[in-house]
Amino acid sequence: MTVTESIKNFRRTNYCGDFSIDDVGKEVAVCGWVQRQRDLGHLIFVDLRDRTGIVQLAFSDETKPEIFKKAFAVRAEFVLAARGVVRERSSKNMQIKTGEIEIEVTELRVLSEAETPPFEILENSNANEELRLKYRYLDLRRPDVQDKIIARHKIVKIARDYFDKNGFIEVETPMLIKSTPEGARDYLVPSRVFPGNFFALPQSPQLYKQLIMLAGFDRYFQIARCFRDEDLRADRQPEFTQIDLEMSFVEADDVMFITEGFIKKVFKEVLGKEIQTPLKRLTYAEAMARFGSDKPDLRFGMELVDLSEILKNCGFKIFSGAIASGGSVRAIKAKGVASKLPRKEIDKLTEWLKDYGAKGLAWTKLNADTNSSSSYEKFLSDSEISSIRNAVNAQNDDVIFIVAGEDTQAVLESLGALRCEIARKFCMIDESEPNLLWVTDFPLLEFSKDENRYVAKHHPFTAPRDEDLTKLDSEPQNVHAKAYDLVLNGNEIGGGSIRINSPELQQKMLKALGFSKEEAEQRFGFLIDAFKYGAPPHGGLAFGLDRLVMLMLNCKSIRDVIAFPKVASSAELMSGSPNKVSSEQLDELSISLNVKD
Ligand code: AMO
Repeated sequence: MTVTESIKNFRRTNYCGDFSIDDVGKEVAVCGWVQRQRDLGHLIFVDLRDRTGIVQLAFSDETKPEIFKKAFAVRAEFVLAARGVVRERSSKNMQIKTGEIEIEVTELRVLSEAETPPFEILENSNANEELRLKYRYLDLRRPDVQDKIIARHKIVKIARDYFDKNGFIEVETPMLIKSTPEGARDYLVPSRVFPGNFFALPQSPQLYKQLIMLAGFDRYFQIARCFRDEDLRADRQPEFTQIDLEMSFVEADDVMFITEGFIKKVFKEVLGKEIQTPLKRLTYAEAMARFGSDKPDLRFGMELVDLSEILKNCGFKIFSGAIASGGSVRAIKAKGVASKLPRKEIDKLTEWLKDYGAKGLAWTKLNADTNSSSSYEKFLSDSEISSIRNAVNAQNDDVIFIVAGEDTQAVLESLGALRCEIARKFCMIDESEPNLLWVTDFPLLEFSKDENRYVAKHHPFTAPRDEDLTKLDSEPQNVHAKAYDLVLNGNEIGGGSIRINSPELQQKMLKALGFSKEEAEQRFGFLIDAFKYGAPPHGGLAFGLDRLVMLMLNCKSIRDVIAFPKVASSAELMSGSPNKVSSEQLDELSISLNVKD
């Protein structure tokens, strides 16, 4: 076993990836991990890796036999410090930045040995993700993984510089706050000092940033950690980060303008992409009607078509019945896929679509050579069939998909999901340019069947549009919000709104959400009180930083851009959390458990 050595008086001069042919002849000192060691008999080569790249160390048994002996014992992932002279390589490797040179080593220190790692530290490793997350510190050594974390750092730095330059003050808001759940489930933290009482971890700094406006800071931002106990998906983590901002004396357009400035800058500096502003805007109603989504992906067409007018009197009850009961019938046309989409695949899509609330999926495959096949045309007249084909402008080899239902929202959402699935499956998405847009004019409230009450579409502090104020009591479903979401490639990367700043309107809003006066007072009394002492008009927005980074870097999972992410069950595999705690810890918190082991 080699004795590991000290770093004492070893001054690193360069990072491993720093060298070029211009450095030949220089005496240098580098530190890093062994990527691999090659023993060629009288020569040994070691590829040394740090966060900037790889440099080749060269050892010869003729010139330095003691150092050669040490290099012989070196294995992958050993940590080394090496001093030596840069020389031109005899066989160059133009695939890597430093491939024209090598360091002829005159001093070698083994700073740490390493066991054989559970997977090889390689770019684009295909090691299983669970294993990689269990040994995340090894996974993070991989250059492609490291690059993403470094790009994330750059994006945060650009945000800090941009918002600072535009007069925003970074203020940290508390992590232990009052539980006021609205939206996702809170993570709770028991209080030792107040037995039976709990703090919550913030789902976002929403109320605090509003109070910062009331306090007169005028413009606030924060790189804010948020916690939401909700089911995870590829673009969701239980703890995630927002670039959070708030501004006083503004309208929606002002917040959108500042946000666009940041987007422009970050795309330019990180990806070299020029984003044209102002960004396209779609109202929520238009986004839903045309794309079946409030975060539409506009990188491909396949827009939804309303067939309700054509089919309201047809003999096929599934269609006409849906319309008669206040619902609708909508279609999309998948271009040129009939020959690639066997019946079995359509059946699978039909099953899959049930999760989106579609009761069924009607379809026609147009085929000029054989007969076209259809699940519904036999129930319709020739003129209805041709009206549908005309309405969607169907050609040979196209597939028409139709969803009918009493619940128009479910019809739109399921076709919206199908539209994206077909586009993905048949590579119809133009990935060359990022697609950004605003969705505006959201409904203020939506009815929750589970809770049998209205819930806020954004959050309870979002202001209604002035022209809809009078409808808040009488027809709450028709009130629109001063809210806006930012969408990138079909993903919501940010959302915000102009806020309520009057105590009366805030109380009215909470009433519309089904809170009694006492409940409203108990949960949000401190905010309503604050509005009584001079509240400026204000509004803001929060970017999902993880999502923004994930999409900018073209990653498939949000986990790729988080240093220590959680898996789908929200566990952290490396440290093994969540974990059981001792009975002493529970006693201190006056907690007794009701869990069977
Ligand atoms: P919202 O809830 O829309 O708004 O969140 C803002 C943005 O945060 C991102 N996001 C998430 N990212 C990863 N994992 C999650 N679980 C997750 N949840 C949300 C999304 C989203 O657009 N306080 C308001 C903002 C405001 O009104 O100013 C808020 O939190 O990209």
